[in-house]
Amino acid sequence: MPDQSPTTYITTPIYYVNDKPHVGHCYTTLIADCLARAARLAKGRDHAADVFFLTGTDEHAEKVVASAAKHDVAPIEWADRNAAEFQAAFRFFGFSNDDFIRTTQPRHTDRVRAHIAAMQASGDVYLGDYEGWYDASQEEYLTETTAREHDFTSPVTGRPLEKRSEHNYFFRLSAYQDRLLAHIEANPGFIQPDARKNEVLGRIKQGLQDVPISRAAREGDTPWGITMPGDESHRVYVWIDALFNYLTVCEEPGQHRECFWPASMHLIAKDILWFHAVIWPCMLMALDKPVPTTVYAHSFWVREGRKMSKSEGNFIDLPTLDAYANWDQFGPFALDALRWYLLTQGPLGTTDADFAHAKLVEVYNADLANGIGNAASRVANMINKYFDGQLPDSPDVAGGPLPGAAETAVAAQDPVRPDTQAGAAIELVNAVDAYIAETRPFSIAKEDPKDPRVAAILYQCAEALRIAAILFSPAMPGAMAELLERFGQPRPDATGAFSQPLTELCAWGGLEPGTTIVKGDALFPRADATVDPPVAVPA
Ligand code: MSP
Repeated sequence: MPDQSPTTYITTPIYYVNDKPHVGHCYTTLIADCLARAARLAKGRDHAADVFFLTGTDEHAEKVVASAAKHDVAPIEWADRNAAEFQAAFRFFGFSNDDFIRTTQPRHTDRVRAHIAAMQASGDVYLGDYEGWYDASQEEYLTETTAREHDFTSPVTGRPLEKRSEHNYFFRLSAYQDRLLAHIEANPGFIQPDARKNEVLGRIKQGLQDVPISRAAREGDTPWGITMPGDESHRVYVWIDALFNYLTVCEEPGQHRECFWPASMHLIAKDILWFHAVIWPCMLMALDKPVPTTVYAHSFWVREGRKMSKSEGNFIDLPTLDAYANWDQFGPFALDALRWYLLTQGPLGTTDADFAHAKLVEVYNADLANGIGNAASRVANMINKYFDGQLPDSPDVAGGPLPGAAETAVAAQDPVRPDTQAGAAIELVNAVDAYIAETRPFSIAKEDPKDPRVAAILYQCAEALRIAAILFSPAMPGAMAELLERFGQPRPDATGAFSQPLTELCAWGGLEPGTTIVKGDALFPRADATVDPPVAVPA
């Protein structure tokens, strides 16, 4: 269903700046980019500003202090450097985020303090004592059961847990258990996919305990983090600070973004679901604010069958991604080819996905070189051969299977699943291929190039491909802008919007007879699967 809501607000996690970006960060942000572009496409240029897409960096973690010290720089300098790396990576991918938040910005720290002060005033935040197992590599406390299950090592990084005891400010999470359960049950789309929702429900039903939200300054600590309102000796726990980022941008004075709250979609991976599906909504309830519509937790990328980790040194890092995005085997739109692979083969569901060179080449050839690329050049070539490159007037624009196929593809534009959006566009290209195979316009033309069936078939194919190009455009903005231009059509703007909303734009018959159809070079030349992978040049 095309998106009908007045505003759409899509977020990604804000990423830790202790290290450089890798494929995981780029993947979540890519999915958000595709959803944001698809939402602007659905709304059209006049309402594209009703879509807001936020990403950014989470900077107050203890591990930022540690990494900065290792590199002999101040934490803020380290944060500045790595935040710039994330911004550069996201620009490289062509992401259309409307803002980039950094938690060290005053616009954010002011709002966090205001919200925590409000929770102190309402009694939702109080001072108490805490002892527990701390996973310093993930900056989180684990329950006794989880710690024991993993032999007192981090379930994510395998590093040893620390027993810590602290005098802390606590958030009264336990008070919101019933309201949260009722909310999850009444709103089946709140936590997605369903399997993840069931995991969260199972854990909530074991009982919610109050959580520490501050840390007392220790001797010799580098001061880093937001101080607790009214108590300079405590700093706000990094996770609590970070979650508020989503609200910060909506409450920034003078920006008029209040209308975007609640968020439509928090896109995250499974590692941080608890914070987003439990702690965050309960804090919002404590503040009397509506909770986000959907928290969507995808799974993880692994590499050639192995988990990516620092110790293995096998991250798909930016130099590797950059090498694919410039690989000559993928032609002039290699960046779009990479976006396409990540988007359609990624871990959106509940299983992890493997980043594998052979698969990347196979998918590129199947979906792009032999799919939309080949269909577009066949149709453009025939129009050039039989009609001197002028789109023929079709005597029968409403007949044949393609108008129906196009309508189905447009109706299948699911606002939550960009892989479904992409799949619908693929189906439409397949319908064009099947139609050409069945009607054989080249054979008819051999007998009689003036046979009106040739004109009718090619008009239909070109029109279906125009619509397919529009539907593919959130995933592959560069290549599809080029294809639309070859078909004499306007390109989307840099944010993915066209002058008309999707349903008007994709109404059948939009292509004017007489339009010049340019052949051009192959959009996606076939890649040779026997060629070695591109070599990453270290940054
Ligand atoms: N700073 C916190 C998030 C705070 S949000 C209020 C954090 N940062 S992180 O840098 O560790 O990023 C975690 C996120 O990066 C995951 O939830 C996911 O979106 C993305 N990914 C990191 N590694 C990934 C894979 N291997 N595969 C897919 N995405 C992964 O947690």
